[in-house]
Formats: sequence, C-alpha cells, structure tokens
Amino acid sequence: MSSFTFATSKSIICEPEAASRLAEICAEQHLRSVMLITDSGIVGLGLHLNAVSSFDRSQIPLHVFSNVKFDPSESVIFEALAIAKAEKVDAIVGFGGGSSLDVAKVIALLAHPDCKQQLVDIYGVGNAKGSRLPLIQVPTTAGTGSEVTQVAIITTGNTTKNGAVTPLFLPDIAILDADLTLGLPPHVTAATGIDAMVHAIEAYTGKYKKNPMSDLMAKEALRLMAGSIRNAVNDGCNKKAREDMLLGAMLAGQAFANSPVAAVHALAYPLGGAFPHSSRAK
Ligand SMILES: NC(=O)c1ccc[n+]([C@@H]2O[C@H](COP(=O)([O-])OP(=O)(O)OC[C@H]3O[C@@H](n4cnc5c(N)ncnc54)[C@H](O)[C@@H]3O)[C@@H](O)[C@H]2O)c1
Ligand SMILES: [Fe+2]
Repeated sequence: MSSFTFATSKSIICEPEAASRLAEICAEQHLRSVMLITDSGIVGLGLHLNAVSSFDRSQIPLHVFSNVKFDPSESVIFEALAIAKAEKVDAIVGFGGGSSLDVAKVIALLAHPDCKQQLVDIYGVGNAKGSRLPLIQVPTTAGTGSEVTQVAIITTGNTTKNGAVTPLFLPDIAILDADLTLGLPPHVTAATGIDAMVHAIEAYTGKYKKNPMSDLMAKEALRLMAGSIRNAVNDGCNKKAREDMLLGAMLAGQAFANSPVAAVHALAYPLGGAFPHSSRAK
C-alpha cells in the first residue's frame, strides 16, 4: 500500500436539532464570547433563530454578523474582521452555506490576537501561520463540504477568486443538523447535491493522493446521495433524504479534501468566472 495522510475536522456532531443547543456546545468548549457568521438569506428565513436563542439561556455573549454575500469578497472579510476585533470575540461559528463557512475560517485565523498576517499573506497553499480562534462550522447547504476542508475561497475581483489552503481551517467541531436544510429550494438542492456527488466521483477516480480512507468516504458519500438526491429535490421535507444528503456531502468533502478534485472542477472555475451571478454550484 502507498503511504498516505488523511486530515479532517477534530470532532463531528451529527444530530437532528443540534443547532438549537449551540450555546451548550460552546460552553462545553469553555468559549467566552462568540461571533456567528452568516448571510442575510439565512437571517431572512430565521434559520439561525434556534441557535441564537440558545445563547439567551447561557452566560456567553453572541455577536451575529449577517453580511456575508454569495461568493464572498475581500471587503466582507475586512468588515467582519473589524467587528471581531472590536468586540474581542474569542470564538467563531460559521453558520450557512460554503460562503459563510469560508468567511468564518478566515476570520478565525486573522482575528486571533497573535496574528501578524494580512489577508493577502494567507492566499496559496500552506501560507497561513500561527493559531486561530476556536472554530465551529454549521453547514446549511449539503454541497461544498467546507466544514471538513482546508480551503477558503474569496472573490478578489469581478471574475477572479483566490484560495487559502491550510490545516488551520479544519474546525474544532462540525455540526451536521439536517433540520437546517429542510427549506433549501429544489434547484439549490439539486445543484449543490450534484456538486457534492462530483466531489466524491473525482476523489475516487483521480489518482493524485487517492488513498483507502478517501475511497471509503467517497463510496459511502455516493451511496447515500445517489439514493436520496431525488427524494430531497422532490420532497424537501423528507428528513431521511436531507440527512443522507448532508452526511453524504460531508463525507464527499472529507474525500476530496484528502484526494483532490480534478478536471471537472478545473473546467468549472473558468465557467464560474464567466457566469458569476448564476445560481450554480461550485
Ligand atoms: N471551502 C470549500 O471547501 C469550498 C468548496 C466549494 C465551494 N466553496 C465556496 O462555497 C460558496 C458556495 O457555497 P454554497 O453553494 O453552500 O452557497 P452559499 O453559502 O453561497 O449560499 C447560497 C444561498 O443559499 C442560501 N441558503 C443557505 N442555506 C439555506 C437553507 N438551508 N435554506 C434556504 N436557503 C439557504 C443562502 O442564504 C444564500 O442566499 C462559494 O463561495 C464557493 O466558492 C467552498
Ligand atoms: Fe465543487
């Protein structure tokens, strides 16, 4: 067998309604002041409300930042970072799709009191240094797998993106609460679900860094999602289908985080640049 390494998030909580005990989970981690990073769509739907109200029953102050935009730009990072520093938060929760989770990763790193780096310094592979604030990730789409990947993708121009890749972006806890995904519209369920299935297919069929662990994750991800994507699209309230899609997308994320995606995603990047405002999956 060829040698390999496999890295993923330290802890994964897969539990219906887990988001409604977010403050309890933060207290178990001894966190003292938390910033929840999300977008206005989530807030408009009230998806975050159970998580937020759990803090009313705790001693932990919560600051909600809801200005994340689809394909987040550097200006969103600067805005969130200024608030995190001003409020002296000591932990970050990403709550939403890949856009919110990616912003949360970068803020957890740059808002650490010992951080000497600027955003521009961390682009590329392995350039982020030091420590980050405690990080909890709560995905509300079943697609990117960002809760278990080492990547954050930031939009740097009209049609250009830049990525930072570092093990520091693997969170302390990923919370999979499929109830949060029950209201995902059918076309978003389909697009993000196919994206996740392609993560698994490319991780399994690509040769570079392919390993027995990534193969296990990719096969189980495809089994779950192939069995449930139609039900999730046709009946958004089908809890079993939503659980399969969320767990499947996470497993696919673990697979491609350790055995990278290939030609299909390479083709998607220039197409994504050419169609920046369509509701596509990435
Ligand atoms: N870090 C990684 O590993 C990785 C991998 C692939 C893509 N990405 C990045 O992820 C981003 C895309 O993420 P995404 O596809 O998850 O979407 P997103 O985070 O951009 O959200 C898209 C829209 O869906 C809405 N939404 C989210 N959850 C919902 C729910 N449960 N119900 C109803 N609406 C909901 C949001 O409010 C938003 O309007 C891009 O910026 C992409 O570059 C990151
Ligand atoms: Fe993708």
